Amino acid sequence: AIDIGDLRDQSGFITLDRGFKNTGSTKSAITFLDGENGILRYRGYPIEQLAEKSTFLEVAYLLIYGELPSQPELDKFLQEIRIHTLVNEDMKKIFDGFPINAHPMGILSALVCSLTAFYPESVGDMNPEQEHLSIIRILAKMPTIAAWSYKNHMGHPVNYPKNRLDYCSNFLYMMFALPVEEYEVNPVIADAMNKLLILHADHEQNCSTSTVRLVGSSRASLYSSVSAGINALWGPLHGGANQEVIEMLESIKADGGNTNKYIEMAKNKASGFRLMGFGHRVYKNFDPRAKIIKKAADQVLTQLGIKDPVLDIAQQLEEAALHDEYFIERKLYPNVDFYSGIIYRALGIPTNMFTVMFALGRLPGWIAQWKEMRESKEPIGRPRQIYTGYTERNYLGIKERK
Ligand code: ACO
Repeated sequence: AIDIGDLRDQSGFITLDRGFKNTGSTKSAITFLDGENGILRYRGYPIEQLAEKSTFLEVAYLLIYGELPSQPELDKFLQEIRIHTLVNEDMKKIFDGFPINAHPMGILSALVCSLTAFYPESVGDMNPEQEHLSIIRILAKMPTIAAWSYKNHMGHPVNYPKNRLDYCSNFLYMMFALPVEEYEVNPVIADAMNKLLILHADHEQNCSTSTVRLVGSSRASLYSSVSAGINALWGPLHGGANQEVIEMLESIKADGGNTNKYIEMAKNKASGFRLMGFGHRVYKNFDPRAKIIKKAADQVLTQLGIKDPVLDIAQQLEEAALHDEYFIERKLYPNVDFYSGIIYRALGIPTNMFTVMFALGRLPGWIAQWKEMRESKEPIGRPRQIYTGYTERNYLGIKERK
């Protein structure tokens, strides 16, 4: 890598790299990713070990503060999060302003952004205590906002957090409990959610994370920066792919389950169709997260006694693509989103909440990257361009124009 960080903006030297395929935007000590060999590590720890042995909030601590917590550190962190799970009652009025069929991602981004208005000291420079409080607040409140965005969509009354529950169980309770019947969180479901969130927790300078850093570089608040990240994540080429995958698998099933037809369509550029959940900007051999998720999907479906025909279609598609020249040449393999939707469905999470689940998982990564960017005193992000428009020309009055 060549570091051109010292060149002044008057140097006349501009690199053009559309989509930043080979451009590093920063130095970072958070996540190591080797796309050729399918390696992903958070702060040095392999994703496989963390997914198997850790918990989501422990991983969040690791990403944000750089080290795995000791027991007292973890206890303090969990307790701080627990006491901040409520959101200001006035926020409910904002929920009420959304139409009933509003997408939960739209509600989530708006409500997370509105936290800046509730905590205005979060804009600009903050002392370490204020910064820490912003981090705790967003970690604690985002599951409440996410669950309430779903309740709003369903037209159901919201559930207030139950702080004796762990992070994932509390979210599931707020999402699914209804006033008309008892709700017990199924530990299989809470464990699977925990694993999925860990797998999504950070992925270095992807589209949404770069957005968080770029917005944060103006010293915008953590809430505004994360809200911008949520919007970037919503797009179907990024986090929105998990919803698109399940919708694609459903339509293949409805169309008779002919996977070859869809493989052929994806190869034909004129069709405009892409196999959702396939391909990755960085992984060119396999996505290590997809391997773990595929195994977890099998386990969860078995444990919950669910037979999902869509899983068979997913496996057929993967198998067909693995042996097809088009996919081999372009190194297109299933990515993290290919199997995550199948698990979310088995857990009872509705399709339009899939990307919200991704956002909950990615939150610690966004926070860690925002914090690192501030601590390393990065300058405001301001890319240049190669201008391709007109040279100078004179203004014409409206009657003189053709
Ligand atoms: N189906 C069919 N063809 C594909 C697919 C696909 N899913 N993905 C890439 N290709 C083809 C492209 O048409 C292109 O072909 P060409 O070289 O003949 O023109 C080649 O593979 C390279 O693709 P690019 O779009 O240039 O690769 P890029 O790195 O820009 O994009 C991306 C990566 C966005 C993930 C892409 O593979 C894609 O659109 N996949 C489907 C959406 C998806 O699953 N997104 C989730 C990504 S993971 C995440 O965000 C967590």
